Order: sequence, then structure tokens, then C-alpha cells
Amino acid sequence: MPYVEVKTNVKIQDHTKFLKSLNDLSVKLLKKPNSYISVSLQDDVSLLFAGTDSPAYVVHVNSLGTFDNSEYNKEISKQYSEFLQQELGATSDRGYIFMNDGGRQNSLLDIYNIVTEEADKEHDKEENKSKKKISKNRLKREARHKALYESFEKRFNAFYLQQYDDERWIELYDALKQPARHCAMINKYTDQTTISEMLESRLERLTYLDIPCYSFPNRFPQPKGDSKNIFDYYLLDAASVLATQALDLKPDDSVLDVCAAPGGKSLAILQRLSANGSLTANEPSLDRRRRLNRVISDYIPLQLQPRINVVREYLKESYLYDKVLVDVPCSAERHLLTSETEFEHWNENRSKKLAKKQFIILCDAVKSLKVNGLLVYITCSVSRLENDDLTEQFLRESWVPLELIQKEWPIGEKTKFGWIVLPDRNDGWGPIYFSIVKRVGAWKDDIKTLRS
Ligand SMILES: C[S@@+](CC[C@H](N)C(=O)[O-])C[C@H]1O[C@@H](n2cnc3c(N)ncnc32)[C@H](O)[C@@H]1O
Repeated sequence: MPYVEVKTNVKIQDHTKFLKSLNDLSVKLLKKPNSYISVSLQDDVSLLFAGTDSPAYVVHVNSLGTFDNSEYNKEISKQYSEFLQQELGATSDRGYIFMNDGGRQNSLLDIYNIVTEEADKEHDKEENKSKKKISKNRLKREARHKALYESFEKRFNAFYLQQYDDERWIELYDALKQPARHCAMINKYTDQTTISEMLESRLERLTYLDIPCYSFPNRFPQPKGDSKNIFDYYLLDAASVLATQALDLKPDDSVLDVCAAPGGKSLAILQRLSANGSLTANEPSLDRRRRLNRVISDYIPLQLQPRINVVREYLKESYLYDKVLVDVPCSAERHLLTSETEFEHWNENRSKKLAKKQFIILCDAVKSLKVNGLLVYITCSVSRLENDDLTEQFLRESWVPLELIQKEWPIGEKTKFGWIVLPDRNDGWGPIYFSIVKRVGAWKDDIKTLRS
């Protein structure tokens, strides 16, 4: 060692002269005694470089402990390539110089040549250009997103400041921007031994709920199936469980859940029913109905499933149900504010439009309620238009005679016609609004006449 091999497609007239010059250069560059150095030449070989047979070369420089991956390697490479340009007429972009440190188990330490370096530089330049372009586009997108968000935020706040006083809205707005909170509603149909481990850990039972629900300081582990593959708990907002409590369920009740998917409240209802009770879970959206079916098959034993009817459309005006739950599609501001893009769909008319839809759903739903049956109307909106205003309109305009039921509940606050749990004042639970009405007759007198 060192051993320098040159392969070229150029025919060299005087091999000895070439090799002598190569030897002298190697002594100088590799800093090794002349007596150690050997050099070899294979000329006139078949060698295409970049697809052409113009003068080109491949050089292997093998030398123990010489290369250190630094500027020094570049200098060696530069001088060999200058030499080869002069001797072969091959420019520096027509060859490779491989440097090999035999001392490191013959590993190829470095491949240097000016071309690659230049090509690398070119490549880096292009890459930087496109990176700059991408980050410029990203910055533009981010700026646009920020501007959109700021304009949305202004209009959104102005809209809700008409409904809440300033101080309350600031608190509530901050709380709405926090991720939603969940509790674990224990599934009474699961083999209880599978959850005992979890119950023994640092869980806090939410004693104000009438079915076992636990809150957890961190994130819950994913629910899992017992020996019969029945899942042990379902994660949902404690205020949602509270709202189903308002149905005052009796074990044998027949219940209609009008807007049922993905199924959290249906499950909460099923926790309070016996095998003699029944549930019709209505969901018009095919996708969401699939999710609902999945929840039911994951949480309810097969033998009880015949008591549950998942439907796309339910029978109206059939006086079938003791209890009706109407958990309507709504503004869902918390979801809106915690999602990256949802806010783009918001405008000042949204709540009004939704209220129209909610009113229709509600007026239809109440027709299938038995006389003396209870209906609970639920939203997860903080908009008065979808909450108290809608309940008021419903009481006023429904063809069914109704009586408003108002009670005190352990968390949340009273509103004019219902109850609301808001996250700023209730440990992050909510928002959930609910109102309760009782059907007190078949039809209102004036409607009775119209219908007969
Ligand atoms: C707030 S979500 C219901 C959440 C569900 N109760 C739960 O606890 O998992 C509202 C549901 O109403 C459904 N929906 C939309 N329009 C409806 C309509 N006209 N009648 C009944 N349900 C409707 C939506 O597809 C959506 O699944």
C-alpha cells in the first residue's frame, strides 16, 4: 500500500512515462515513501461515461490510514483529476476517483471527484430552491389560514357576544377551545372482572350520574373486549350521560333515539333498560348507521340485540314510545373550534339554518311519543337559537300538547326552558343543552279539529 489503479478508454502511447508521473504525484499526495507505492494502468478499455465513449476514467486510490474525509480528501481528488485531464484529455466531469482505506476493512471511505461535487452542488441548489418554494407556499398557506381564522374568530365572537355577557363569553370561549373531555361509562353487559383492574386504579367515580361512569386523570386506554368480546366501557362526555338521565328511564320502557349515531347515548339508554325494554335507534346516514351497528354489536350481547332496532326511518304518529331522545345535529362549537378546518364552514346564518332543521326533527319525533311520555331534546351547541329559543318555539308551535318539565341537575346551570352544562364552569364537561317535555294529550284542540 498505497496502490493506485487507473482505468481509461484513452489509448496511452507511453505507459512508463504515464505511470512514472502517476507514481510521483501519488508520493506527493499520499505522503508515503516511494518504496511503498505501486501504480497500474489499464488503457484503451471499453468504458462509457455518461453514455459516451469520449475520454473518461475510473481511478481507485487504496491507501492505509490516509483518508480522513476532510478537505484533504478533496485536495487529493482535485489534483488527480487535474493530472488526468492533462494526460488523458478527460475533463473532471468524466471520471470517478474512489478512495479506499484498506485499514478500515477495505471499506470504501469516500468517492470524490469534482463532477460529483459539482453535480452535488447543483443538486443541493435545486433542492434548496424547491425547499424554499415549498416553504414559501407553506408560509403563504399558513398566512391565509391565519387570516381566515382571525376573521372567523372576530365574527364568531361578535355573534356569541349577542347571547352572553362579555366576561362569561371570554371564559366560555377559552374553555371551548380545549379538547373535549371524556369519561368511561362502564358497560353493564361486560364481564365485570375484566374491568376490576381499571376500577382499582386511580379512577374517580362520577357519583352524580345514575350509572357507573369514571373520570381519569390522563387518557383512557382503549376499551377492550371480555371473554365474550363484549367491550368494557365507552368513552363519552359526562354531560351526555346526564342528559340521558333526564329521560327518567324505567327498565321496561320502549325508547326511541331519533338521532342515534354513533351511539353513545343509545348505549347510555341501554344501560338502564332490562331485557323487557326496547330501543329503536334511528339514523338516516348510512355511514353513521354502520358505526352505530358496530357499537351495538361491540357492547350488547347477541341475545339482547333483538330488543334493539336500528332504522333509517322510524314510524311517526304511532304513539309507540314511552321515551324519545332527540340529540339533533347542531353547531357543535367545541368541535368547530378544536378542528383545523371546521371553522371555515361557520357563518352567522349557520345556527339559524340548523335551528330550522332541528325544529322539523323535533316536531316529527314528538308524534311517536305515547301520551304521558317524555321527550328530551339535546344539543351540544352553545347557541341560544338552537337551545332555549328552539324549545320555546317547540312548546308554542308543536301540534302535540306539551308540558315543560324543569328540574335541578347536579352539574350545569338552569336556562329559561332547560338546562345547560358548559365547560368553563363544570370541569371541562359539555357543552350539552337539554330540555324535557311531556306529551300531555294526543293533539292540541285546534289541531284536533283540523285533523278530524
Ligand atoms: C349529534 S349527532 C347524534 C349523536 C348520538 N346521539 C350519540 O350520542 O352518539 C346527530 C345525528 O343526527 C343525524 N341526523 C341528521 N339529520 C337527521 C334527521 N333529519 N333525522 C334524524 N337524524 C338526523 C346525523 O347523521 C347525526 O348522526
